[in-house]
Amino acid sequence: KRVAILISGGGSNMVSLVDSMTGDHPARPVLVLANSADAGGLEKARARGVPTAIVDHRPFKGDRVAFEAALQEELERHAPDIICLAGFMRVLTEGFVRRWQGRMLNIHPSLLPKYRGLNTHARALEAGDTQAGCTVHEVTAELDDGPVLGQARVEVLPGDTPETLAARVLQMEHALYPAVLRRFAGGDRRPVMMP
Ligand code: GRF
Repeated sequence: KRVAILISGGGSNMVSLVDSMTGDHPARPVLVLANSADAGGLEKARARGVPTAIVDHRPFKGDRVAFEAALQEELERHAPDIICLAGFMRVLTEGFVRRWQGRMLNIHPSLLPKYRGLNTHARALEAGDTQAGCTVHEVTAELDDGPVLGQARVEVLPGDTPETLAARVLQMEHALYPAVLRRFAGGDRRPVMMP
């Protein structure tokens, strides 16, 4: 299976995914695409010999459909079987999602369905949650809402800040996403639950 990974920032999840696709793994990375030239993950992808592309969203000034047409063109050049959104911070329209439905995954830093959207760790702390975590799900038109393919839980510790909790969850993201991709690329849609 050919995997394209979409990033916006440092790409730590992308690195975990790329580094996991070795040996008898049923998938290989064919593209890392960023929506900004200063996404730190681009350099990490290049260092791993993965083709990269940049489709900057800013020139499209909020014209999501035009931006997505440029995304689609770049993606079709690499013909991925699976798209992994990994710290990709642009909301995709229903039209784009429908074209890739069933083949596009996302990782979200909360135990969905809790805390869709942004600032998930601050919201979990605000609520006094004793557990937090991350979720890998199939992308559907509804934001952060598709079928769950995996979840990883962490304890919230006394004195946690959004930053300390985010760092603990991010470590689990780096374990969960590769485990889900390996299973998903092998055609197995049973969810991965950690621990
Ligand atoms: C992190 O907050 C992670 O929880 C979320 O996207 C952000 C950046 O991740 N999935 P990455 O380091 O760019 O993969």
